[in-house]
Amino acid sequence: MAKEKTLEDLFHDTLKDIYYAERKILKTLPKMQRAAQSDELKAAFEKHREETEGQIERLQQVFEIFGKPARGKTCDAIEGIISEGEEIMDEFKGTAALDAGLISSAQAVEHYEITRYGTLRRWAQELGLKDAVALLEQTLEEESKTDADLTALADASANQRAKAA
Ligand SMILES: [Fe+2]
Ligand SMILES: [Fe+2]
Repeated sequence: MAKEKTLEDLFHDTLKDIYYAERKILKTLPKMQRAAQSDELKAAFEKHREETEGQIERLQQVFEIFGKPARGKTCDAIEGIISEGEEIMDEFKGTAALDAGLISSAQAVEHYEITRYGTLRRWAQELGLKDAVALLEQTLEEESKTDADLTALADASANQRAKAA
């Protein structure tokens, strides 16, 4: 019979998943920054790269609270979302639609993170990991804010530029 698994196991697995994803995102953001055409979008990617470094540190603290070593586990979802983003970078390179495309790719990443952190925060609450709840909550707020900032950039300029060309 299969070994019993619990909410602890789910929490641990999901923590490893997002830890892998964040480190992959940290490597990808500089590429997106270089690809972006507008200074505002470059600045937004740079800001989020810095935040991502802090988010990785928070995850290391959560692993510590949980009593496990900080280790990632390949996250196929983020690999897929990021390769689609790379396709946009290639296929829309040098066009007026590039920034709008980059924003949409970045928002797919943010939404993935939001679903993961939302679940982890909930489960940390269930497991009575109070300090972990606060850390996960902080990151969840940063991801939501980033998503909203990207929407604002798309509305303010990128979508219009893409349309006007
Ligand atoms: Fe993140
Ligand atoms: Fe993010």
